Amino acid sequence: MEKFAKELTGKLALVTGGTKGIGRAIADRLLEAGATVVVTARNHPGDENLKSYFIPTDLTIPSETDKVVREINKKFGTIDILVNNMGGSTSPSGGFAALTDEHWENDLQLNLQSSIRIDRAILPQMVEQKGGVIIHISSLSGILPLYESLGAYAVAKAALNNYSKSLSKEFTPRGIRVAAVSPGMVKTDTMGAYLQSLSDTSGRSVEEVTQDLMTSLGGVPMGRMALPEEIAELVGFLVSPRASYITGVNYIIDGGANPSF
Ligand SMILES: NC(=O)c1ccc[n+]([C@@H]2O[C@H](COP(=O)([O-])OP(=O)(O)OC[C@H]3O[C@@H](n4cnc5c(N)ncnc54)[C@H](OP(=O)(O)O)[C@@H]3O)[C@@H](O)[C@H]2O)c1
Repeated sequence: MEKFAKELTGKLALVTGGTKGIGRAIADRLLEAGATVVVTARNHPGDENLKSYFIPTDLTIPSETDKVVREINKKFGTIDILVNNMGGSTSPSGGFAALTDEHWENDLQLNLQSSIRIDRAILPQMVEQKGGVIIHISSLSGILPLYESLGAYAVAKAALNNYSKSLSKEFTPRGIRVAAVSPGMVKTDTMGAYLQSLSDTSGRSVEEVTQDLMTSLGGVPMGRMALPEEIAELVGFLVSPRASYITGVNYIIDGGANPSF
C-alpha cells in the first residue's frame, strides 16, 4: 500500500456531511491520501482533530449550494472529487401510513435533491477541466426496501441509484467518472441512536433489535455492522487513479447481506 500513500496529492475534494460517521471517515481517508478536503455540515463537530476545511451549511436549503461552491472555488480552486455523502432519514417508523407529505419531502431533499444540486453546481467545472469523480453514498435499502421504518429513505436512495447511473451515461464520455456506494449497516453514532430508538419503542434490548435488523436484511453473513473506515477504504479506491475504468456502478458493501448478486 506504501506506493499509493499520497496518490491524491494536488486533488481538491468535497465531502458533504464529512464531520461525522461515514463522511468523516471518508474525509480522513482522502486527507491521508494527500488530498485537500473540504467538509460541510450544519454543525461544527467541535473536534480539534478536524483537519478538513469546514463550511457550515444546511444543504437541504436550495440557495446554500451555490454559496458553498463559490466559497470553495474562491479559496481552493476547482473541485476534482465530490463525495455526496450527506443523507439519512427524519421519518418515523410505522410503515406507509405513518408517512406524511412532509416526511417524504424531507427524505427526498436530504438524500436525493441536495446531491443533484451540488452535482449541478460542480459538474460544469469538472467538464471544463476534462476530469473529475463523483461518488453518491446510497444505501442497501435502495435495492432492499425496509418498509417498517425507512420507506421514504429507501425510495430516495433507489432514485439516487438510478440518477447516479444516468449521470455516468451522460458525463463519462466527457471525462467524469460517477459511481454509487451502497453500504449495509454501518456502526455510526446515528445508527446507534436509531437502534436505541427501536429498542425504546419495542422494549427489546439494543443487541436484540440489532439482530432483528440484520435478520430483516436476510442475515448479515459477516455477523456484524461495517466500520465507517471500511466504507471509506472503498471510496478512497474509487476516487483514485487506480479506479480509472470504473464508472456507472453501484458498489454494495454490506458484509454479504444482499440476498441476490
Ligand atoms: N450508517 C449506516 O448504517 C448507513 C447505511 C447505509 C447508508 N448510509 C448513508 O451514508 C451516509 C452517511 O451516513 P452516516 O450514518 O455516516 O450519517 P451521520 O453520522 O448522521 O452523518 C451525517 C452527516 O451529514 C450532515 N448533515 C445531516 N443533515 C444535513 C443537512 N441538512 N445539511 C448539511 N449537512 C447535513 C451531518 O452533520 P450535521 O448534523 O451537523 O448537519 C453529518 O456530518 C448517508 O447518506 C446515509 O444515508 C448510512
